Amino acid sequence: MSDQAEEGADSQDTTETAPDAGQSESTADGTENTAGEGNALIAYFSWSGNTEAVAQEIQNQTGADLFEIVPAEPYTDDYDELLDIAREEQSSDARPAIADTVDLSGYDTVYLGFPNWWGDMPMIIYTFLDEYDLSGKTVAPFNTSGGSGFSGSLDTMAEMEPDAEITEGLSLGSDEAEDCADAVADWLNSIGLAG
Ligand SMILES: Cc1cc2nc3c(=O)[nH]c(=O)nc-3n(C[C@H](O)[C@H](O)[C@H](O)COP(=O)(O)O)c2cc1C
Repeated sequence: MSDQAEEGADSQDTTETAPDAGQSESTADGTENTAGEGNALIAYFSWSGNTEAVAQEIQNQTGADLFEIVPAEPYTDDYDELLDIAREEQSSDARPAIADTVDLSGYDTVYLGFPNWWGDMPMIIYTFLDEYDLSGKTVAPFNTSGGSGFSGSLDTMAEMEPDAEITEGLSLGSDEAEDCADAVADWLNSIGLAG
């Protein structure tokens, strides 16, 4: 099993031939691990680790590549300060810079994860959606929150990426993130991205 899990994680580099190879293989132990196969990316931002835990579970189950959206200028570690900073970023419609870039050209599917900040996506997700054109791709949104769910963020995402196919989202409470295997499996099944 571990060998198969590693295959997905290591397949981030570009093989220029046969981009659609292996679409529906089953692995020897019966686990279907086909959604990754190098053509799906999990891009996520997480400040306190909850959304990251969900991203890692999606990676476990799909073998997709992972890209953490890291701010070029790190956020404070202080929660109360962060609340003020995030509110200020939102009210000024800021676009905090992302530290790294990623080449999305080889990916058909982008899982996009973020926490709910002040009833919306963190502004760094706006930066991501501004910088990357997701036209023609399937975008599978997931988030964690203290209870607000996605708020209006899926509508905003659809406005910013009108030519992407945005699936039903997966929204979990902060305290559900560490133990989310079943929720992730159900979601992947319901959006047709399970192996
Ligand atoms: C700046 C900030 C604003 C937040 N605003 C909301 C909110 O409006 N509604 C909500 O349900 N949770 C809110 N939360 C809670 C987070 O969405 C929740 O803790 C989430 O799981 C954090 O994800 P992370 O660990 O991946 O950063 C906020 C948290 C922060 C830090």
